[in-house]
Amino acid sequence: MANSDPIRVGVLYSETGATSTIGFSQLQGALLAIKEINESGGVDGREIIPVRYDARSNPARYAELAEQLIVQDHVSVIFGCYMSSSRKAVIPIVEKWNKLLFYPTLYEGFEYSENVIYTGAAPNQNSVQLAEFMTSNFGARVYLIGSDYIYPYESNRIMSELVLQRPGSEKLGECYVALDAVEKDFAVIMEDIRDKRPDFIFSTVVGNSTAALYRAYADAGFEPRTMPIASLTTSEAEVSQMGTGVAAGHYTAAPYFQSIDSEENRKCLAHLRKSFGEDCVPNLCWEASYFQTHIFANAFRHAGSDGIAELMPHILGSEFDAPQGRVRIDPTNHHTCLYPRIGRVDAQGQFTIVRQATRSVYPDPYLVTHSLGDWTAKLESLGH
Ligand code: ACM
Repeated sequence: MANSDPIRVGVLYSETGATSTIGFSQLQGALLAIKEINESGGVDGREIIPVRYDARSNPARYAELAEQLIVQDHVSVIFGCYMSSSRKAVIPIVEKWNKLLFYPTLYEGFEYSENVIYTGAAPNQNSVQLAEFMTSNFGARVYLIGSDYIYPYESNRIMSELVLQRPGSEKLGECYVALDAVEKDFAVIMEDIRDKRPDFIFSTVVGNSTAALYRAYADAGFEPRTMPIASLTTSEAEVSQMGTGVAAGHYTAAPYFQSIDSEENRKCLAHLRKSFGEDCVPNLCWEASYFQTHIFANAFRHAGSDGIAELMPHILGSEFDAPQGRVRIDPTNHHTCLYPRIGRVDAQGQFTIVRQATRSVYPDPYLVTHSLGDWTAKLESLGH
């Protein structure tokens, strides 16, 4: 007789703490995909049951809950993590038990684990394009501001190396704030920026304190037309926390924006609203969380099991029509072929897409091709 037992999967995001807004959207991306899979008959008639915990933006708690999911809840696959510090905490656990983590967040690259599938952008799919765009349009004197943990240090290092390839380039400052920074924590930095007058600011601030940075910038009277903030982590979710117009004119590079004009995207957004209302603000990490859950279910259909040895050959090389376009999991490095885009925030908190790749870009997490010019041919200008 066919196995009709439900399939339990771990869903481990942060619904509270410093990255709760984006974490909640990731949770909703996973739950939307699970709902769609179950509504269309499950995986060969088997329902997917999410076993869900709130990791509260705390890496130690991520590690504990990952172990609990594996040992007590008997899941083989975990969808989870936003901050790189949380992914770094979970990897030793999934490696120890030989289980699988699907990670739906842009990150700093320079990593590989046999037990992880990376569905967010690597630096060659966002930093390289953003560096090229910002230095071409605004200049190459950069000031870097980040949250105080591994992703911002590494992402700032990569951005510095890219920008400093330009003639006349200069790094005018690099500073870090706590994950729970509030607007007054940015006051001294804004004064330093007033003195140094960079061509643009690169923000690797993450989570709920992002709003404080953009508010501090606006209150300082700075002008995005001449000195914008560029980021990889300021998505629609963070912009929605800022108040109307605060982020208008600033730039973000991401494979997905809500404003993508495609049938897949419209359908997915409509289904989200119908299923879960307006609480979730869709963004790049919501989308990756959504499509990676479908990729898992499709692989399970072929493998007939969620054991990593059975599942992996059907994940690697697999493709899916995601809201951003057709994505593919690269078999050699476990990262994903994605579509780099650059968006400028409009007055309503949505992104006007000013550049986008005409085809998906192969993930190069070690930045083997570490040069600005190599990628411009793949970008289609939308009339910046
Ligand atoms: C991040 O920490 N990977 C955003």
